Amino acid sequence: MTNDEVGLIAGGRFGEVILRKDSGKQLEIGQLLVYEKAEKKVLFKVYDLVHSSTLPQNAIDMAQGYVREEEGPPLSIYDMDEKISYFTKGLLKPLIEIREEGSGTQILGPKSMPSWWEGVREVRTSDLYFLQGDGTYLGKLRNGSRVMDIDIKLPTDKLIPHHVLIAASTGKGKSNLVKVMLWSIANEGKAGAFVIDPHGEYWGFHEKGLRLLGEKAVLLSPNPPPGGISLKINVRSLLPDHFSGVSEFTEAQREGLESIFRQFKQKWIEELLSDSQESVEGVKPATIAVLRRKMRLLLGLGDNDEGSGPFSTDLGEETINSIIKYLDDRKVVVVDTSSLEEGTELLISNIVADLIMKKHQRAKAEGLLDSIPPVAIIIEEAARVLSEGVEPNVLKEVAREGRKFKVGLIAITQLPSLIQKELIANMNTKIILGNEAKSERDALVNSSAQDLSNEEQEIASLDLGEGIVTSSFLRMAVPIKVPLFDSLVKAEQRDRPKLAF
Ligand SMILES: Nc1ncnc2c1ncn2[C@@H]1O[C@H](COP(=O)(O)OP(=O)(O)OP(=O)(O)O)[C@@H](O)[C@H]1O
Ligand SMILES: [Mg+2]
Repeated sequence: MTNDEVGLIAGGRFGEVILRKDSGKQLEIGQLLVYEKAEKKVLFKVYDLVHSSTLPQNAIDMAQGYVREEEGPPLSIYDMDEKISYFTKGLLKPLIEIREEGSGTQILGPKSMPSWWEGVREVRTSDLYFLQGDGTYLGKLRNGSRVMDIDIKLPTDKLIPHHVLIAASTGKGKSNLVKVMLWSIANEGKAGAFVIDPHGEYWGFHEKGLRLLGEKAVLLSPNPPPGGISLKINVRSLLPDHFSGVSEFTEAQREGLESIFRQFKQKWIEELLSDSQESVEGVKPATIAVLRRKMRLLLGLGDNDEGSGPFSTDLGEETINSIIKYLDDRKVVVVDTSSLEEGTELLISNIVADLIMKKHQRAKAEGLLDSIPPVAIIIEEAARVLSEGVEPNVLKEVAREGRKFKVGLIAITQLPSLIQKELIANMNTKIILGNEAKSERDALVNSSAQDLSNEEQEIASLDLGEGIVTSSFLRMAVPIKVPLFDSLVKAEQRDRPKLAF
């Protein structure tokens, strides 16, 4: 027996192995354990803990009654060695089988079960080296509430096009994780990423943020600080499709947008906004009036008013193209929308996503897709645009088709249950952080790449920054601890003192 053994196999069945915990050893939900025999190891996870005793329950109840109510010792028959009579059982779920063979380490789905009386030990870092890889950094391997020195990274070129879903209740560390991922993506330099920043938290105007990436990150803002780029988008970049999912339009209004676009092409928004344009063939004047009001609001543009918003009728013709160019240069592009309406923020995501998709589709048709990097589009509160009730839109198209063109979503949500089933199934990597609502946990468990049944308790009790990653690029659901972005950056500053931050 090694001294990191925690107990013995004491029954159960394949997916629910029972471990009798040794006294003096600690077990917790989510802890990883290993059963090892010859060249084979089975990795288990503790998914439940149960108190057990060799004594019948009514006898225990009576003995406890004597102790608590009579202040006397229990009857001598029950006064047995506590370590023998009372113990804890752990319920274990097999995750994978690891076989060390002449040709190297082989990772297989679990198929066998350890026998009665076999010992099970704590996991060692050396058991799990195979989980270490290259790519986008998500955090360290987590063993229950402890952290192991194994970096969990997923291959960026696969991760991004196959989409990522990050799901958690509010304040559980979604934005922090996205910052950690973008930091890693930018430093690796294999992909571009586009992120809308409604709260200034990604760029970090006054604290640590992606601005510390230096030249690997670009900021566009309506009020750019020194070094930032002014966010001005020419209205001629807009197409009717960009408004889908942004604001509600009736059937007549949607047809109206299409007709106006057909008649005026690039100048359609200018014509629609101009009061002199009272009638358009096939569109009722009342519809034009409503559309004009809506557009002015969304674009922040009055009649002869350039406004202080991000849209312009004469400036910014190259803005979207330059964003696409930065993404092609594998930079992280942050758009500060803290002073803008929610609809405007979605509109900008749609325009950029549409242009990226078109560029990548063209590249594929010309056989040039291999020469351009994948692009990630980060979308906060993804249920706003990806849920069942929302009309088809550009971001839904990315979720559905983007993989073929190396364009992927990193979709963040508190409400995975609202995201259209077909789209959530397309998101091959799911990062689950703490989630209090059972309905939301169920939606994640039911759509994950690995079987998460029995892991509900762990998901429900995840602390800040703790998560579980399921992915078609992993052999098992991997528990992680995401570092605090500030600590990650601080550690890198310490390790690389020559870099100016
Ligand atoms: N991995 C972590 N380790 C330690 N603390 C963390 C971690 N992640 C987040 N925090 C702390 O929790 C706070 C909230 O995190 P964050 O803003 O990332 O949550 P969120 O899920 O994006 O919240 P919201 O739903 O409001 O957008 C952060 O300000 C930070 O202090
Ligand atoms: Mg957040």
